[in-house]
Amino acid sequence: MSTLITNIGELVTNVPEAGDVTAAAAGGIGAAADGGGAADRQDRSGFAALSDAAIVIDRGRVAWTGPAAQAPAADGRVDAAGRAVLPGFVDSHAHLVFAGERGAEFAARMAGVPYSAGGIRSTVAATRAASDADLGANLRRFAAEMLRQGITTFECKSGYGLTVADEARSVALAAQVTAEVTYLGAHVVPPEYEADPAGYVDLACGPMLDACAPHARWVDVFCERGAFDADQARAILAAGRSAGLEPRVHANQLGQGPGVQVAVEAGAASADHCTFLSDADVDALAASWTVATLLPGVEFSTRQPYPDARRLLNAGVTVAIATDCNPGSCFTSSMPFCIALAVREVRMTTREAVWSATAGGARALRRDDVGHLGVGAQADLVMLEAPSHAYLAYRPGVPLIAAVWQGGNLVPTASSDVLFGRE
Ligand code: NIG
Ligand code: FE
Repeated sequence: MSTLITNIGELVTNVPEAGDVTAAAAGGIGAAADGGGAADRQDRSGFAALSDAAIVIDRGRVAWTGPAAQAPAADGRVDAAGRAVLPGFVDSHAHLVFAGERGAEFAARMAGVPYSAGGIRSTVAATRAASDADLGANLRRFAAEMLRQGITTFECKSGYGLTVADEARSVALAAQVTAEVTYLGAHVVPPEYEADPAGYVDLACGPMLDACAPHARWVDVFCERGAFDADQARAILAAGRSAGLEPRVHANQLGQGPGVQVAVEAGAASADHCTFLSDADVDALAASWTVATLLPGVEFSTRQPYPDARRLLNAGVTVAIATDCNPGSCFTSSMPFCIALAVREVRMTTREAVWSATAGGARALRRDDVGHLGVGAQADLVMLEAPSHAYLAYRPGVPLIAAVWQGGNLVPTASSDVLFGRE
């Protein structure tokens, strides 16, 4: 059954050649003020949008986009009443397999205690103690929470088990809710290996990897002081690659260090955090295919300085925005909140931030079927209770997600029921 969604105030496609979008402003983000007219509705980030538009979705895919006046007939019809429609958000960095919470650690941070990688161990203890059923229920709760808020694709890491059995059950559970599963056995060295970190790296490169690889697509390592150094990170990524996993890296979150260079050398899809970068790091990213994934919710929740997206974008680096939802450094599953932070604190335009939270996330996951609304793309859509994408930053903290479609299906939520009824 096909559905026509029409009377869309702004349809963000991220497809520059679609419909009536002009390429006039391709030369400069700085030159094109947000909120401009049709002539500057595309910028070099790849953001593109149509006004007074319509979209047809059919069998889970985008079948047509264009001016509402030219829309073809379809089996069903939804009137967007001038609301904006965007590609579903693509969250390329999340840690959702865990038990417990760390609200007291957050409160202490806000009273001046600095964030350190060591807090991860308290979540490891809670996760190990949880039953499979409780861990799975927690995970499904967060996955549903993300979907209601417009995240239609998400990556999910292990990393709070840190034994062969606990990492294996973490990736197996994650594989039940997403195709983008990441093996993060190298999150921190667990307490029982404190005196033998090399032994833990051997475990993470050997039996633990063997148990996890069948359920995962990606291998990740936290390359940072207090976690794993450059040589350990290289060994973990190389072992993961030989087991068929593609690399991504937690890099330069807590200070300058080798993480970004290790990521680029390994051909990682993404270097995540990128908060403290040297000029050489920026140059290395610019000369590579590695996406810089910024996680501004982390800086919000740890009171660290924010990364500088302008420096990366000006150098030609591809930037993604993700939530990093986890119980320690950033416990938000709200991409609109991260977009607002990216605009206000990380110095992105509203267009850049929205592109980075959709198409940028897709690049970081090496996916070309999501993050845009070109014909043939997955029919993953977010409808805003607002006329344009800019409201995600303009009205921070306001629940603006009016409806979500995933694979062409309207996701049942309180607001979608009110607007369109159940399909
Ligand atoms: O991405 N940096 C490492 N891992 C997570 C934090 C995990 C935690 O504090 O529990 C992150 O910020
Ligand atoms: Fe993380």
